[in-house]
Amino acid sequence: MKRPLSNILVTGGAGFIGTNFIQSLFRNPEFSGRIVNFDLLTYAGNLENLAGVQREFGGSRYEFVSGDIRDRKSVQEVFERFDIDTVIHFAAESHVDRSIEGPEAFMTTNVMGTFTLLDVARKAWSDRSGALFHHVSTDEVFGSLGADGRFTESTPYDPRSPYSASKAGSDHLVRAYYHTFGFPATISNCSNNYGPYQFPEKLIPLMILNMLEEKPLPVYGDGRNIRDWLFVGDHASAIWRIITKADPGSTWNVGGDNEWENLRLVNVLCEKVATARGLAKDHYKKLISFVRDRPGHDRRYSIDCGRIRRELEWSQSVHFDKGLDLTVAWYLENPEWIKNIRTGNYRDWLDRNYGRRSKVSG
Ligand code: NAD
Ligand code: TYD
Repeated sequence: MKRPLSNILVTGGAGFIGTNFIQSLFRNPEFSGRIVNFDLLTYAGNLENLAGVQREFGGSRYEFVSGDIRDRKSVQEVFERFDIDTVIHFAAESHVDRSIEGPEAFMTTNVMGTFTLLDVARKAWSDRSGALFHHVSTDEVFGSLGADGRFTESTPYDPRSPYSASKAGSDHLVRAYYHTFGFPATISNCSNNYGPYQFPEKLIPLMILNMLEEKPLPVYGDGRNIRDWLFVGDHASAIWRIITKADPGSTWNVGGDNEWENLRLVNVLCEKVATARGLAKDHYKKLISFVRDRPGHDRRYSIDCGRIRRELEWSQSVHFDKGLDLTVAWYLENPEWIKNIRTGNYRDWLDRNYGRRSKVSG
């Protein structure tokens, strides 16, 4: 199936995955279209990430528009002004801990914002063929696994945090638009991403940055929760496969076949950062600190991504060991990026959040 992919609206393109996706698309020789990055620039959005893209493609194949997906008028203007034929929808509130502290923005952006985008796109595309709305979602919508089992595309939804519930709500809306209106949409549910430009509230960058400052490394609960990690560039390549090859109405699980207990992962990270800085291998391990568990903390995620491998011939290209090395190197080589994002309100939030957590051992 041939889609135009001429004018792609990327929502949330200044965030972690959106940034990596946009950069990868401009490196992709099969892509010759234009990208419109529509982003509200919340604490998680950082335009500095795309300064290189702006320099090279700005005004011709790349446009940034500051805006809110909850604001129908702004979204409509973007559709009209740029003749959008494809949407890749990343924009969201994305951090589970924040959704526990303040769930409202998760509902308004993730649920109502997705609704607004869908509704504007449906009207704008009423007589257009070849358009596609790709919705980027998470494996967290499937809930929490015990020691066995994996999530497949047909696993029933069982979200357990305000974040995952809001993403589940948005997934349901996308499916409802496909079934009710024949709206051309696809969905991917991906496992935990890691890599450059990830905001340091998420496990891997938070640990790296705390090591650099010799701060405690807060491991929630017993540290035995399991996540399935995927390098962000491999998520981007999976989305490319979907938007170029998948049928409307289809859903795709994406993951790394790469399950790690948090504590084991933090120990490996300690060794990698220490080695990269020429320190003794165990230097940072003394900073590991077990803190009160996250309320409702999902125990294990494991994603069966056999279908996208078989049917869309996707495979990951970055092994975890190499991906972690790349990621550690990126954070060590970009102190300015770290400094700049810390001048926002992130530091306050982090201090407030972790200041309240009681240390139980470590
Ligand atoms: P992020 O928090 O790094 O970035 C989110 C971006 O969305 C930011 O640039 C922010 O400014 C923008 N945004 C927030 N609210 C907005 C609004 N109302 N209007 C316009 N823009 C807004 O998130 P991420 O980690 O890059 O995740 C991107 C998407 O992928 C999310 O939908 C998330 O649910 C999903 N996802 C993330 C992971 C992961 O491991 N990070 C895994 C699977 C799926
Ligand atoms: P996170 O990066 O927040 O992603 P998610 O909750 O979406 O999976 O957390 C990954 C895992 O690491 C999760 O089990 C919670 C745990 N965690 C910690 O132990 N300490 C931390 O400081 C953070 C941020 C997460």
